[in-house]
Amino acid sequence: MPVEAIRLVRKMRGGAQAHLLECADGHFYVVKFLNNPQHRRILINEWIASVFLNYLQISAPAAAIVNLSAEFLESNPEVHIQLGTRHLGVEPGWHFGSRYPGDPAKVMVYDFLPDLLLDKVVNVAEFLGVLAFDKWMGNADARQSIFFRARLRQWSPSPAEQSPRAGFVAHMMDHGYVFDGPHWIFPDSPLQGLYFRPSVYQHVRSWDDFQPWLDRVVHFPEEVVDEAQKQIPPHWLAEDAAALEAMLAKLMSRRKRVPDLIRESRRGRVNPFPEWK
Ligand SMILES: Nc1ncnc2c1ncn2[C@@H]1O[C@H](COP(=O)(O)OP(=O)(O)OP(=O)(O)O)[C@@H](O)[C@H]1O
Ligand SMILES: [Mg+2]
Repeated sequence: MPVEAIRLVRKMRGGAQAHLLECADGHFYVVKFLNNPQHRRILINEWIASVFLNYLQISAPAAAIVNLSAEFLESNPEVHIQLGTRHLGVEPGWHFGSRYPGDPAKVMVYDFLPDLLLDKVVNVAEFLGVLAFDKWMGNADARQSIFFRARLRQWSPSPAEQSPRAGFVAHMMDHGYVFDGPHWIFPDSPLQGLYFRPSVYQHVRSWDDFQPWLDRVVHFPEEVVDEAQKQIPPHWLAEDAAALEAMLAKLMSRRKRVPDLIRESRRGRVNPFPEWK
């Protein structure tokens, strides 16, 4: 079920002109609208990517369908798309929401971390899992992630010594350009899907480093694809049901090629895996 938008917090940067909205479930969502300047299909791509990442156990913001009521839009006239000098209104109805990790007044979210901190991100190994995902999904954008500090429970054998420790966590996000964005094709190339900081790949020595995610991609179950497809609001899909079906069939048939696609990234201008002999 969709969650109701109740308050505009701010507009975000970026080509999709997402807006950060407080919602009635007590969470905050970065919302991409159906008439965003990129394409309507961006919402479908985001939704499918979110369901798949959840199955693959790669950390990503929770996704939700966010309903913008006519009343909300009336009382928040700042919610709009800007095309040059033109103001474009947003239609009431269902849009795509990516959950902010907490209350934006209290939790700082970073788009980038310096290498020194990046190496210490608790789930930095997931950049290898998400490379398998990006190669598979034909992500035409470079890998993007947000980072925030969270309390991590460090379980020691003695309960008295359990110390809540804070550290940086990465959430993989911005999947509007999987399937080459609105084109729904797979433009494979050596550089495609790589994160712009090479340090996340520097310790790769073998295929084992891409596990367990690589196996989960290669054996990705049909049921998860069906489940994702069923959840897409008909309004987002418009006349694209057959095109989506065909694209997802291609996606499933290229699962087994993902190890080759990863191997080919070593043939790019720079080998991202200098330690992998
Ligand atoms: N779940 C989230 N929690 C916190 N911040 C987020 C979340 N999702 C997106 N953002 C922030 O909003 C910005 C825009 O989001 P995103 O990159 O998905 O949009 P975009 O318009 O496709 O961007 P671009 O095309 O410029 O890369 C991000 O750079 C990030 O700072
Ligand atoms: Mg982005």
